[in-house]
Amino acid sequence: MPYYRPALARVHHEGSGGHGDACAPGILAKLRPVGERGGVVLELGCGSGALTRHLVAAGHRVVATDASPAMLAVAREAVPGVEAFRRLVLPDDQLPPADAVVSVGHVLSYLPNALAVERAFRAVAAALRPGGVLAVDLLHRTYRSARAGKAPVAMVREEWAVLIAFDSPDPETYARDITTFVRSASGAWQRDDERHVNVLVHAPDVVRLLADEGVEAKIARGFDDGQRLEEGLVAITGVRRWPLRSG
Ligand SMILES: C[S@@+](CC[C@H](N)C(=O)[O-])C[C@H]1O[C@@H](n2cnc3c(N)ncnc32)[C@H](O)[C@@H]1O
Repeated sequence: MPYYRPALARVHHEGSGGHGDACAPGILAKLRPVGERGGVVLELGCGSGALTRHLVAAGHRVVATDASPAMLAVAREAVPGVEAFRRLVLPDDQLPPADAVVSVGHVLSYLPNALAVERAFRAVAAALRPGGVLAVDLLHRTYRSARAGKAPVAMVREEWAVLIAFDSPDPETYARDITTFVRSASGAWQRDDERHVNVLVHAPDVVRLLADEGVEAKIARGFDDGQRLEEGLVAITGVRRWPLRSG
């Protein structure tokens, strides 16, 4: 598993979560009709549950999925009341049918290239039942210029420290080198290094693809009018069309 091994899963859980909190009000508003009909919300890349906990608190039936077993283990502990946790690796694993698909933290940008992102969105469209709601965030091409020259960041806590450096080797790639130090039971510090490589896509291409697959979607700067996501991170929201009645 290249992303979010146990040390980083813990650091992510204890050191972040604000993005899920910020996205939750807008996503919950879009999910209201889904909740009213008792529909299933499929979350992709749930991580340690930063958005999941809001979905559950709002009374939704949630199937929370992620590629990282370590993230799923943290989320299982942290978020009671989830209908099911599943390991699901995009873009190849089968998506269960759902009345909504949600995802925050640019999960689909973790795929290796634009073709893989396309495959994942086609799978999402196929999983959505008629009237189903889509709400995901994604890295658009402008993310690169928006973050040019971004200085490394560091966070230090009693039991762990994390250092993150950024680079963008080409216009379609944005990468983070993440080094964690976590204090073990014996008191020794254990180091781990992960390189997170994200693909930057042209978001309007995704909207066109979704339209071809029966999902009317749009791009916005946030999940509601009051939210402004970081420059280059866009919200893609939409609804799966009802099939045309024949005869
Ligand atoms: C930046 S984290 C966001 C986690 C969580 N949604 C949040 O907002 O805190 C990205 C998540 O995507 C997951 N991920 C990365 N590649 C994936 C893939 N191919 N399929 C499914 N999940 C993936 C990671 O394991 C991680 O939990």
